[in-house]
Order: sequence, then C-alpha cells, then structure tokens
Amino acid sequence: VSDYHLMIPGPVALSPQVLAEMAEQVVAHYGKDWTNYYSETLSLLSQVFQTRGDIFAIPGSGTAGLDAAIGSISGDGSAIMVVSNGFFGDRLADIARTYSPRVVVHRLDPTVAISSDFLSAALRENRSVKAVSVVHCETSTGLLNPVRELAKVCQDHGALFIVDAISSLGGAELRMDDWGIGICISASQKCLEGPPGLTLVAVGERAWSVIEQCHTPGWYLNLRTWKQFSESWRDWHPYPVTMAVPALRGLRKALESIVEEGLDERFQRHQRIANLVRNGLTDLGFELLVTSDVASPTVTASKGNAVLSANALIDGLRDQYSIQIAGGMGELKGQIFRIGHMGSQAKEEQVLPLVRAIRSLLEGVGWRLKREMP
Ligand SMILES: Cc1ncc(COP(=O)(O)O)c(C=O)c1O
Repeated sequence: VSDYHLMIPGPVALSPQVLAEMAEQVVAHYGKDWTNYYSETLSLLSQVFQTRGDIFAIPGSGTAGLDAAIGSISGDGSAIMVVSNGFFGDRLADIARTYSPRVVVHRLDPTVAISSDFLSAALRENRSVKAVSVVHCETSTGLLNPVRELAKVCQDHGALFIVDAISSLGGAELRMDDWGIGICISASQKCLEGPPGLTLVAVGERAWSVIEQCHTPGWYLNLRTWKQFSESWRDWHPYPVTMAVPALRGLRKALESIVEEGLDERFQRHQRIANLVRNGLTDLGFELLVTSDVASPTVTASKGNAVLSANALIDGLRDQYSIQIAGGMGELKGQIFRIGHMGSQAKEEQVLPLVRAIRSLLEGVGWRLKREMP
C-alpha cells in the first residue's frame, strides 16, 4: 500500500500521539480500570456532541451508526422522512427503506442547502411523519446543511430529528441538546482525528421515548441492546460486544487534544482553512461546486477546468506530489475533485502546499499547451 499524503475527506492522518497510543498492547475490554477509561472517553465525547444524553461507541464504520439510529426508531409502522441533497443523503434513504415500508424521500438539488421552509412544508404535507433524517455536512459536495434551523422545524412539528454528522462533528458547530437534535451519528476517522473503526451514536431523552415503542429486529445495531448493557453491565463491561480497544484508545487521545484546543477555536480554524482552500482554488480559475454561504468548513468540492479535468488533477497530485485527494461520487463521478480539510488536515501547512501543487500542475499543462501551439 503506497503512503500518500492524505487530503481526502476522511479518514485523516493520525497525530504521533494517537499513533503511539494505538501501538500500546491490547488490554482486556472489561474490568474496573478499563471501564473508567471508557467512561472518561464518553465524557469527552459528550463535550464534543454538546449533549447530556447517552453516547455509544460502537465498533463499526459510520454507516453502522446510521443503521443503528434509523433501525432503532423503525418497526412501529410510522413514517420516516429523509431529505437528501447528495450521495450520503441518498444513503440515509436507502437505509431507511430497508427498515420501513413508509419512507418519504425528498431529493433536492445537490448544490442547494435544505431550507427550513422546505422542511416545514414537507412536514405539513405529511403529518404522520415521526422522524426526519438529514446529513449535516454532505461530504460528496462539501455542502453544510443548516441543521440548527431544521431541528427547530422538527421540534415545531413534533418529529424526531436524526442527523448524520459523520464529516462535521468536531469541525463544524453542532450543539446537539441546545439545537434539539434527537439522535446524532458520527465516526472516529474524520474531524475527530481518530482511526477508522468506531461509530459514535448520541441519543437524547426524547429519542428514547420513540425507540422504546419500536420493535425492530436485530441485536448488534439495536440501540436498545446498547442501552441495556450500558446499565446492567455498567461497572464491568458497559457494552454488549468486544470493544475495539486500539481504536478507542486512539480516539481518546485525539479527543483530549480536541477538548484542549477548545471547540470554538477549532471551528474557527476549520473555517479559516476552508476559506484558504476556496480562495486558492478560485484564484486558480476553478469553479467551486457550492457557494460560500452553504460551504462546509471541512471539505471543498470543485469542478475541473478547461485545461485540467478533475481526474487529471487527482492523478497529477497523486503521481507527481504524492498527495491523495478524492473524486466525485455517484452522479458527480468524474466531474469534480474533493479536498478534505478536517481535523489534522485543517492547517496552513497542509493546505498551502496542496494549493501550490495544483498551481504547478496547471502551469505544467499551460506550458505544454503553449509549446504545442503552432
Ligand atoms: C456524511 C457521511 N455519511 C456517511 C458516511 C459513511 O461513513 P463510513 O464510511 O464510515 O461508513 C460518510 C463517509 O464518508 C460521510 O461522509
């Protein structure tokens, strides 16, 4: 496996401290000391989610958390609404359809944020909807949906709000309790700067009242199972399965530095770096996929331009500069490139060399074009 400088929208490169923590010998995932360590890690996560609700660190990727959240509120026959403006919103819809025959999906323009007016009208039309799910940062387009306003609409309509914050938590402002988010899902490997392998699911009190009325089959990804073990095995083994010890340790170390940095400082850093990337690309003549007012502070997507297609740019960065960025997903495949600037990537010393490398690639193509002209 080649060792490229990772500027994809997650996973991100790990700090030496996180790597060192993960290199420690595996310990038993139960017992008093480990359980204390685990609960302290959950307390750090509560600060990042900004919630007093329950949090579960479940071995699995982010999608496992989405499956757990949507599955656990299904099974009572009521309708779930998914509003999607991209690949990962569509993924939410796909997951919901496997759990419920009553899924209302609204598929919006991928370059436009979901508006509270739209959601309000959609909920007025479908009064039986019990829960609404959206993506906070749509990683496939670099668009940040206004979950604070959308949460308010859900509250006004009495619907539970489920947010995929897999590529935003720790990089973009999100206040689970203050904003009234019912269930919020994230993952260890993106803005939280941990290794891949854990999904983090935060569940508020109101969500439990919905979950408790549901009878979804399945055990591992059923939040009822996780809640039950967190209580009945609390002092010894507060989860139903073997914990991914190295991943949890790595995440713990990363969370310590997040809390030390301070959330507000962190959000400002992400925004500052996002602006640098956006301005750098615009100065080089690229057309960004979404406008600044809806752009995510954690990932930027841009179209290729007349001299350098998105794919040529991705290949050039990889082959000539050993920098790995990402391409488009789904219907945007081949049309755009995406740069991750989340967590450890959101630093001047990471993004400025990348923008310089893109400029050199462009100059390279321009020079060749000029030479080829008659
Ligand atoms: C917004 C969003 N949702 C879901 C996922 C899927 O996460 P995972 O690959 O960890 O299952 C991703 C991964 O990029 C994502 O960015």
